[in-house]
Amino acid sequence: MDNRPVGVFDSGLGGLTAVREIMNILPSENVIYFGDTGRVPYGGRSRETIIKYARQDVQFLQSFDLKAIVIACGTVSTTAMDVITREYTLPIFGVVDPTARRAAGATRNGKIALIGTQATVRSGAYERLIQKWNPEAEVRAYPCPLFVPLVENGRFRRGDIVIETVASEYLKPIRDWGADTLVLGCTHYPLLMDVIGEYLGGGVVLVNSGVEVAADLKRQLRIRDLTADPGQSGDCCYYVSDSVEGFSQLASVFLNRDLSDSVEKVDIE
Ligand code: SIN
Repeated sequence: MDNRPVGVFDSGLGGLTAVREIMNILPSENVIYFGDTGRVPYGGRSRETIIKYARQDVQFLQSFDLKAIVIACGTVSTTAMDVITREYTLPIFGVVDPTARRAAGATRNGKIALIGTQATVRSGAYERLIQKWNPEAEVRAYPCPLFVPLVENGRFRRGDIVIETVASEYLKPIRDWGADTLVLGCTHYPLLMDVIGEYLGGGVVLVNSGVEVAADLKRQLRIRDLTADPGQSGDCCYYVSDSVEGFSQLASVFLNRDLSDSVEKVDIE
């Protein structure tokens, strides 16, 4: 048994899709969340910059006595995971492995689409892994650079004309191609689940990287004998690198709990 917290980080609030699922399936775990809201989005940046940011994020989280870290960011998981896992001894889990495995098993017609940031698409990480698990599958990747800034600005609900217009522009080629499985390769995208689901229709399986990484964390903590005391109720503290108000407002709505006293600003540089 190990009651030390799990560190979770993302470029902004997208990683909360993983935190929400961790709270659901691992209610005894304590979580320290860091959202790099002062530097979001990461997805249009170079590999060097993404690695630099990821190192700073991990170093910040390491100031707590953690038992594991979850990289709840598609961009960092696809672009910097190899470097980060080499540099730290702590168990570190990313979104790509479990999400790719789920997508590879979910398709029925062999057509898997991936949406992600420019860096995620450039990395080719999802294609490599999906084809490892399902060599018959065809994977097509589509960058969606406007999704993250829109989500960070609270434009993720159905009926919002801006997000619906952008979504139809990005998703039309996927619908035309006839993919039956869509990988939401950025943890911000599950916030757009309703918008995306409505456009593509119920026949397309949406693979949620936040949900998959949380399920993987549960498995990994068990395997390593690191699970928290099941009798305790887990807690989550939130840190951001920019305005506390903006983050806590959106995060409170998304997590359905009042976070006004649980968010702190830190200087990540
Ligand atoms: C971004 O910061 O551009 C998105 C983060 C992600 O890929 O999950």
